[in-house]
Amino acid sequence: MKSFVYFALVHSLLGASVLAAVPLSSVKRVSNVPTIPNKFIVEVDTLAAIPNKRAYARTLDAVYDSIKARAVEFDVNKEFESQGLFVGASVTISDAETLDTIPGVKAIYPVTLFKKPQPVSKHIVSGPDDPAAIPSIFSTHVATGVDKVHARGFFGKGIKIGIIDTGIDYTHPLLGGGIGPGKKVIGGYDFVGDAYDGTNDPVPDDDPLDCEGHGTHVAGIIAADPNNPYNVTGVAYQSSISAYRVFGCDGSTTDEIIIESLLKGVADGQDILTLSLGGADGWTASASAVVASRIARNGKTVTIAAGNDGSSGAWYTSSPGNGIDAISVASVENTVLSVQEAIVSGVDHPPIPYFSFRTLPIEGELPIYALTQDTTIPNDACAPLPDDTPDLSPYLVIVRRGTCTFVQKMENIKAKGAKQALVYDNGGGATGVSVPGFVVALIGAADGAFLVEQFFAGAPVKVSFPPSDEVVNFPNPRGGLMSTFSSYGPTNDFYFKPSVAAPGGNILSLVPVNAGSFAVQSGTSMATPFLAGSIALLLEVKGKSASVARGARTLFETTARSVPATLDDGALPQTVTQQGAGLINVYDAIFSTTSISTGQLVLNDTANYRPIHTFTVKNNDRKSKAYTLTHVAAGTTLSVRENSIFASLGPVPQVSAPAGVTITPSRFTLRPGESRLVTALFTPPRGVDASRYPVYSGFIQVSGPGENYHVTYLGLAASLKNKQANPTNYTFVGEDFPTFVYRLAFGSPLIRLDLVEPGIKVEAGLNKRGLPDFGHLFTFPHSINGGSFSRVKTIGPLVERTFLSRNNENPDDNGFNTIAFDSPKFANGSTIANGAYRFLFRALKVTGDRRKQEDYETWLSPIVGVQQA
Ligand SMILES: *[C@@H]1O[C@H](CO)[C@@H](O)[C@H](O)[C@H]1NC(C)=O
Ligand SMILES: *[C@@H]1O[C@H](CO)[C@@H](O)[C@H](O)[C@H]1NC(C)=O
Ligand SMILES: *[C@@H]1O[C@H](CO)[C@@H](O)[C@H](O)[C@H]1NC(C)=O
Ligand SMILES: *[C@@H]1O[C@H](CO)[C@@H](O)[C@H](O)[C@H]1NC(C)=O
Repeated sequence: MKSFVYFALVHSLLGASVLAAVPLSSVKRVSNVPTIPNKFIVEVDTLAAIPNKRAYARTLDAVYDSIKARAVEFDVNKEFESQGLFVGASVTISDAETLDTIPGVKAIYPVTLFKKPQPVSKHIVSGPDDPAAIPSIFSTHVATGVDKVHARGFFGKGIKIGIIDTGIDYTHPLLGGGIGPGKKVIGGYDFVGDAYDGTNDPVPDDDPLDCEGHGTHVAGIIAADPNNPYNVTGVAYQSSISAYRVFGCDGSTTDEIIIESLLKGVADGQDILTLSLGGADGWTASASAVVASRIARNGKTVTIAAGNDGSSGAWYTSSPGNGIDAISVASVENTVLSVQEAIVSGVDHPPIPYFSFRTLPIEGELPIYALTQDTTIPNDACAPLPDDTPDLSPYLVIVRRGTCTFVQKMENIKAKGAKQALVYDNGGGATGVSVPGFVVALIGAADGAFLVEQFFAGAPVKVSFPPSDEVVNFPNPRGGLMSTFSSYGPTNDFYFKPSVAAPGGNILSLVPVNAGSFAVQSGTSMATPFLAGSIALLLEVKGKSASVARGARTLFETTARSVPATLDDGALPQTVTQQGAGLINVYDAIFSTTSISTGQLVLNDTANYRPIHTFTVKNNDRKSKAYTLTHVAAGTTLSVRENSIFASLGPVPQVSAPAGVTITPSRFTLRPGESRLVTALFTPPRGVDASRYPVYSGFIQVSGPGENYHVTYLGLAASLKNKQANPTNYTFVGEDFPTFVYRLAFGSPLIRLDLVEPGIKVEAGLNKRGLPDFGHLFTFPHSINGGSFSRVKTIGPLVERTFLSRNNENPDDNGFNTIAFDSPKFANGSTIANGAYRFLFRALKVTGDRRKQEDYETWLSPIVGVQQA
């Protein structure tokens, strides 16, 4: 990419006019991955690695003494002492650069904030005494073979699962109605308290009761007891659950709380930890991602949501799910939607299905009223209705979906007395509609158009909603496809994320009793516990050893089913960047008699191309089997927009541009217990435009008698490394200070802003000393004071940030990064002398070498005068 940073230096006052899309009103020195100022997670070395170690029992004590010796104020918020996983502390410190010079400090991580997980859509259904039930056994279990595992008598018994979320309503009768030994929810911990929002002090206690609902929905997917009127059934309902509550009733949580809960989960002996939370950052290296990955490497399974940022497009999966050995879970649409049926009279028409879990509470037969004859109107009822509209209270109003919210439409018709309505679809797809204080449901477009036509033809049509014991399972028109909200990977450093997909779109599960007990929700938050429960079934069957846990991802990846891009015949498989290895097949993952040594092959970009891969196929059966290996290409995404440096938005366009693969051998027979090494040699697709950053992907399919497995690959047909006036005086009084605005079209591992001489010439290879290799994963903020940075002479560093995600499209969300210089100070807090300078902004290209100036994207500001009174 020619350039991957958009930048500008603007007067704060002029900000709004210079860049209309940027709200500069309240900007401070902020990054797009929200972090807590002055708070850091410090990881320390073993005691053996530091000088005068004999004086100390712990490295942490030595570190504290060293900081004190430098007369720097600091507070210790929390200590982490899990030997072999993570030893360190969360500290608040005014001069953070000090930390980098302290012996025994191994890594310094900023403390990331994670927003409370938001379901993509949510529809509360009424309680179990409601006359409704799903006729067939749970569709998500059928789609993934969980029903067949249950039929063999496995329900997760003896497996401990820790759910790190908003807590659990353990009073729910289907979650055992209590908490403690012998119950379904055996325990847990509340790390934060109700009032915690991510920025205030947590107030922990022993009671992880859910006041939000999200964690209860997650818990129901794993653990809901069967035999209820809705037939909601947990994937592993005999497993033992612990509730680790990391969110208050509202707001965010932080890396340090997540790390604390992960380490407690390990200490409590959980076999599986599952996290339906995260934030899009595109990197594998946030503190909680690193800890989650280490736990997985040590032999416990960690399942984490891939994220609901599908609309933001490529290179945008969430952390901590990006943690290298964590299993990142994408979402597939449920095959069924739960609907009820309305009866039409006065004309001949079959019952009309409506998307609701319960019968609409409407008595008798209602006449209908439509606002317009135009059944393609884009914005029906988005404006107040005309004065001549009659009193709508006796009618069932028929309104077309689109443009404005359901709530706004209902407010406009309510203003004319309406009490009930049916909204007909405009192609948006099935969804529950819930408008407080109003009776409404969604119907299909054709049924809506029929009713509108009949109304304007003057037909005596009436509609009734007879209470029914039956809930009709309506086929989901997108059933079995990837949920559009499911985030696209891979990570910026080309790790294979997401790993696999599970049902997460339109999932019926539990919510707290006081919130209605049952609800349909959508999100990778719903897919993640489904996989956690499935892994519990695996551990029950194969044992809880570390090797079974470590092998789980490969088993689920190699037995997964490729998800097509559309339901049309012959459709290309959806890009691996969204589906990972595909929809899990739980029965095959557990009971298949062939094993494959790896589930994912990363070919990396052209600059780091790994064209040759090997894996083994092993026959664990008692009989010989013949295998055939073939290549099945999936979609190649054009991950960057045409003539642009910015990532493609979702749904990310994909084309058929297959890589070439030579598989040797491609046919062989294995005797019982025998295995065979297979080599795959790849050539990237031809004729694709490298400037679109095409990510190609697909599967090497391994077919045995009546069985299918696959190894999934991912590569980039471009190089990531290539991706990447007038003097003004400022007085720093009031609003007279410069603000630096930049937009990352791609993630960057390091950005740095330095003050430099106005006459500087920035070019590659200046003859200065190179930077030392810090040996740190994170180097924020590192200790270079003035001197040079990547061989460019600087006066001093102003700002440095590590591991930034790219920006997205929404100026109110993550559209831009801004750094406001409201006071003329260096990063270490010392004041910049009055004079003329330039700002030098550098963003390290992905996979670039931080010591080489040519590996940075560089921007030099116009001359800026500091003229403080
Ligand atoms: C619920 O599922 C069971 C099988 O577990 C089935 O026998 C029963 O008919 C279902 N109940 C309803 C109301 O569909
Ligand atoms: C891709 O290559 C880069 C540069 O060598 C490396 O840093 C990165 O770890 C590689 N990604 C994977 C998944 O191996
Ligand atoms: C900025 O300040 C310098 C030094 O005081 C002065 O020479 C210069 O003219 C000023 N520039 C502008 C544009 O006011
Ligand atoms: C702070 O940083 C500036 C620029 O690098 C340097 O000149 C100054 O000496 C530093 N001050 C302290 C107290 O370290």
